[in-house]
Amino acid sequence: MTSIPFKALVVKEAAPGRFTRQIVPRRTTDLPPGDVLVRVAYSSINYKDLLSATGNRGVTRRYPHTPGIDAAGVVVESASGEFQPGDEVIVTSYDLGMNTDGGFGQFIRVPAGWGVPLPAGLTLRESMIYGTAGFTAALSIMALVENGLTPAAGEILVSGATGGVGGLAVSILAKIGFQVAAVNGHVDQGEYLRQLGASRIIDPAQARDDSGRPLLKAVWAGSVDSVGGELLATTLKSTAAYGVVACCGNAASADLPINVYPFILRGVRLIGIDSQNCPMAERRRAWARIAGDWKIAQAEAMVEEIGLADLDSAIEKMLARGHRGRTIVRLRD
Ligand SMILES: NC(=O)c1ccc[n+]([C@@H]2O[C@H](COP(=O)([O-])OP(=O)(O)OC[C@H]3O[C@@H](n4cnc5c(N)ncnc54)[C@H](OP(=O)(O)O)[C@@H]3O)[C@@H](O)[C@H]2O)c1
Repeated sequence: MTSIPFKALVVKEAAPGRFTRQIVPRRTTDLPPGDVLVRVAYSSINYKDLLSATGNRGVTRRYPHTPGIDAAGVVVESASGEFQPGDEVIVTSYDLGMNTDGGFGQFIRVPAGWGVPLPAGLTLRESMIYGTAGFTAALSIMALVENGLTPAAGEILVSGATGGVGGLAVSILAKIGFQVAAVNGHVDQGEYLRQLGASRIIDPAQARDDSGRPLLKAVWAGSVDSVGGELLATTLKSTAAYGVVACCGNAASADLPINVYPFILRGVRLIGIDSQNCPMAERRRAWARIAGDWKIAQAEAMVEEIGLADLDSAIEKMLARGHRGRTIVRLRD
């Protein structure tokens, strides 16, 4: 096994409960065992990375640690017939960046079963504009359309739309012909959301009902929700008969204050989305759609590209909710 020097962001517990982040030199021989050594070209910052980067033990049990649940790069060594040196590969989720050194380092070593060959139609850089966020948006939209929703059914509500999952969901839905209403959160981003493809912008106060009524006027054919809490509960109460709601996040809350009426009186379907342990066949199907008929034209409008040296400040900015869209991290020198 060759030992290649590289750089990585490492999060350390400097004192009990106090975490620091630094770019440090490492060697590939420090990486965990695995079939495939990948030279990472790009990673991206997802919500879960913010948790890992700030010492959240629910995501990362042991520190020092390199976060980064997303990585796209080139195979350098492979002990598996599935991949050959030179192959371009996408690795997202499973344990990457959680308790396995992640994509915020210039190399990762992972089981071959975690890799998706880069589909034709995407570059490594483009694949990370989508990353786990786009993959999750695609799984959510697959849940909507494969449960019968067509553009003729009506408008789809997307929450967290200024973020990664929500923004990519807006653009993909618009691309495939849906009318999309986007919830615009804390800062006015109406123009940006229209650029992504939203046909209507909804104020969060409008999308949240605290009247306590069990059902509300049926407005939405379906929804992609990455926010949870009251917003998701209101969406479910406002979804039309036989509508489909994909629940994929908890950016605001993990609670769901709801009764059963939307389900038993309107046949509303609430579908859970889990990208982390998504089976490989489904994973490849979602990436094929992202690279194919669901590839969006607005990707560059959503992305900020940074280098490894800028990662710490980008994490701080995201923690302060000072970002929008997607931030990708260039790892190759
Ligand atoms: N199920 C899965 O497999 C999966 C995969 C990826 C992500 N997720 C989850 O999906 C959610 C969004 O992830 P992301 O990567 O899109 O994150 P992100 O880029 O940070 O976007 C989150 C968006 O949610 C909105 N939001 C509303 N209330 C918020 C609050 N109290 N705190 C922070 N944001 C709030 C914000 O938009 P406004 O300010 O405009 O409201 C923000 O832009 C997270 O909960 C994440 O854990 C789940």
